[in-house]
Amino acid sequence: MAKPKLVVSTGAGISAESGIRTFRDADGLWENYPVMDVASADGFRRNPALVHQFYNERRHALLQAEPNAAHRALVALEKDYDVYIITQNVDDLHERAGSKNVMHLHGELMKIRSVDDPDYIETLDRDHLDTTPATRGERGDLMRPHIVFFQEPVPMIEAAVDLVNEADIFVVIGTSLVVYPAAGLINCVRPGTPIYYIDPNPAATPTIPNLTVIKAKATEGMEILARRLADRS
Ligand code: APR
Repeated sequence: MAKPKLVVSTGAGISAESGIRTFRDADGLWENYPVMDVASADGFRRNPALVHQFYNERRHALLQAEPNAAHRALVALEKDYDVYIITQNVDDLHERAGSKNVMHLHGELMKIRSVDDPDYIETLDRDHLDTTPATRGERGDLMRPHIVFFQEPVPMIEAAVDLVNEADIFVVIGTSLVVYPAAGLINCVRPGTPIYYIDPNPAATPTIPNLTVIKAKATEGMEILARRLADRS
């Protein structure tokens, strides 16, 4: 008997309890850095050194972080569900917690890619995290952060929509639901699919059917969700 497919969409909030700053909360990243200077295609053209430095800082912060109980709770659900994670996060905490199926819609902090060939990607090792506009890959290409900047397409969004459309249960954790196309995934479930949204300060979602909002931090919310799912099965 195939396990039910549980598709999860996560945002910065699931990594907050690992000590990684979100973007739009008080003291969020976008309070200290003008987002269009450090995370947009125009900003990268204008001042690539600043953009490389911004992601260097975030890589060093990531080294200090560990997966938290919410990441681990998603791994535990793999016992009873086929769990697929679609994350807007560029950290590797889902993978380090042990999640197998992780799709990074907005790229990956620990990877860099060729400026000229987006399919040429290298993984940075923990001792050489810093890059500059002069950084070259093993093949000789000039390299850039493997991040989807604002003003750039989100190559994996079609695959993500297909995944959400196959979900038997859809879970949204720790996202403000303001950045599209990721925020639109909540509208891509088949009719009647139950949706759970875990967030201590959830965005208003007036028109979403079959939605249960769990107003809690990710670690506590995942405990509540696990109990709700156990009651369903
Ligand atoms: N547990 C769960 N959720 C939390 C927690 C927590 N401990 N702390 C904060 N949150 C929630 C906030 O209430 C908010 O809804 O996490 C969400 C963080 O929202 P954002 O900072 O906007 O992060 P996110 O939604 O992931 O941003 C989407 O915007 O800047 C771009 O590319 C960037 O991927 C990012 C995208």
